[in-house]
Amino acid sequence: MYDALDLLIEDLKRQKRKGVRSVEIDPQSLETLRQAIGKTEASVPQAAEPEPPTPPVVESKLEPTKPLIAEEAKPEPKKDYHTLPEFTLPTGSKQKQWDWLQDRVLNCRVCNNHVKPGKKVVFGVGSLDAEIFFCGEAPGADEEIQGEPFVGKAGQLLTKIIQAMGLQREQVYIGNIMNWRPELESDYGNRPPTADEMAFCLPYLKAQLEIVKPKVIIALGATAVNGLLGHDPRRSISKMRGSWYEFAGIPLMISFHPSYVLRNGTNKVKRMVWEDMLAVMEKLNHPISEKQRSYFA
Ligand code: URA
Repeated sequence: MYDALDLLIEDLKRQKRKGVRSVEIDPQSLETLRQAIGKTEASVPQAAEPEPPTPPVVESKLEPTKPLIAEEAKPEPKKDYHTLPEFTLPTGSKQKQWDWLQDRVLNCRVCNNHVKPGKKVVFGVGSLDAEIFFCGEAPGADEEIQGEPFVGKAGQLLTKIIQAMGLQREQVYIGNIMNWRPELESDYGNRPPTADEMAFCLPYLKAQLEIVKPKVIIALGATAVNGLLGHDPRRSISKMRGSWYEFAGIPLMISFHPSYVLRNGTNKVKRMVWEDMLAVMEKLNHPISEKQRSYFA
């Protein structure tokens, strides 16, 4: 067991040096690891501040006690995104505009330049008449395979949240700040996009907002907020969530990212997310049943 654990720790350290900031791990494997390093669930400290920008990959217990084997050079990302996309949407129906934009994004040279062979650029999905526009961070492993936002575990939770609001996934619009999965050398692990990467993709997101004209945007997590409102390291999702902001003249609700809820699924966090969704439903004059009101009461 310890050999395997050492190998895993070494691999995580290698990933960390390459810039990987988080890896997905299912609860059972996490428990096995906790037991292996002598921690019980109860003794593992939870992050004090909800929604840290990125979760620590390796706990401090796993930090190196002796120098590691040769530090690997961090790969230089392709920096071809400094010229922002410029375009004017064609006139015509929402569908015509959306089809044009989707074609433009899927064929965007810069976006495709950052996608590994066999993987896809990811554009938004949903109703072009949606009142609610969910804005996430960036595609992950599942999304770049399927070419659709929020189809992995976090996406499944988002779909459940939408259904709990009395809606179907097809009735809302779901987009991301980024149209490609921020690249890493390995196939697993995710890193948050850089400010420049987000700035490049923002015109595509704004154009989707211009077409859909939602009544409310829900920004999911710190990266989405940084992408929309500009990067500010002092921002705290736990302080901003639940209040109304504005983006492009559209009311903006900020909430936790479903991945954060999956990682830190305390009832308190779930209740806060649900309160944010109730606030959105109230703003849109959607009926709210007693059952919906008391989900987390
Ligand atoms: N997380 C996101 O922010 N977007 C996705 O599409 C998937 C996971």
